[in-house]
Amino acid sequence: MTVRTALLQGQQLLEAAGIQVPRLTAEVLLMRATGHDRSWLHAHGNDELIEVWWIHYGRYLHQRLNGEPTQYITGRQEFYGREFRVTPDVLIPRPETEHLIEAALTREPATILDIGTGSGAIAVTLALETKARVTATDISLAALRLAQQNAQRLDARAAFVACDLGAALAGGSFDLVVSNPPYIAERDHASLPPEVRNHEPAAALFGGPDGLAIYRRLIPEAARLLRPGGWLMMELGDSVAVRDMCTGWINVEIANDLAGIPRVLVAQKP
Ligand SMILES: C[S@@+](CC[C@H](N)C(=O)[O-])C[C@H]1O[C@@H](n2cnc3c(N)ncnc32)[C@H](O)[C@@H]1O
Repeated sequence: MTVRTALLQGQQLLEAAGIQVPRLTAEVLLMRATGHDRSWLHAHGNDELIEVWWIHYGRYLHQRLNGEPTQYITGRQEFYGREFRVTPDVLIPRPETEHLIEAALTREPATILDIGTGSGAIAVTLALETKARVTATDISLAALRLAQQNAQRLDARAAFVACDLGAALAGGSFDLVVSNPPYIAERDHASLPPEVRNHEPAAALFGGPDGLAIYRRLIPEAARLLRPGGWLMMELGDSVAVRDMCTGWINVEIANDLAGIPRVLVAQKP
């Protein structure tokens, strides 16, 4: 079995199962199995796969055909130009969350808090892209462990704290609070793609019956944690209802993503 044939067969299997971007997925899985990059695969199309590569590739294809997200199989996801390790303990960082990074970079905070850090994608990125002192919380110890590993691997300095929202932290401490909270409505569970529904952690996805439960607690908690004049930046699902929860805040604005979906809410503590 050559590299080219393996790619073709993988692509055909994935295509027949209705998996999106089958060619790219086959390439990513074969890259992982062989430990080589895409240019190697293309330059060595006629090489025979050694047995151990074939065994790994077959297993990865099987996992993907069973609905496991590619990122959990490879253990990696790129975010803001860096590679993060991911496991089923954390949400796979999404490209739309990079809008939150862009919003944060418009300010020059000295202290940043990321609430619900998951893989650490936001906290680690902001620690590397700014001079700020970064703290990150999560309610999941497994997520915090992975976030800490990502910080170490990428040489980022951040403090990781296990607590409910920011409960373990002193009030008035931060210039910027960022968060991509769980915001899917529990009633939408059945309509989620099976990759998401069956594999990503429920605590990272669901925000109560209407998807807004965490925002209801997060907004007053951010008001406690921010210094006067500090900023809150949160990712939104597609709901602008969160804006109505920001009474008492000033300069409240919502920015759309590239698809025109309301994506980032920014608000300033008076
Ligand atoms: C949507 S994920 C975001 C992960 C990561 N920040 C990202 O953008 O990829 C939400 C995260 O919030 C965490 N979380 C859920 N409820 C929480 C709570 N009450 N306090 C702290 N973290 C919470 C989950 O464990 C999960 O890691």
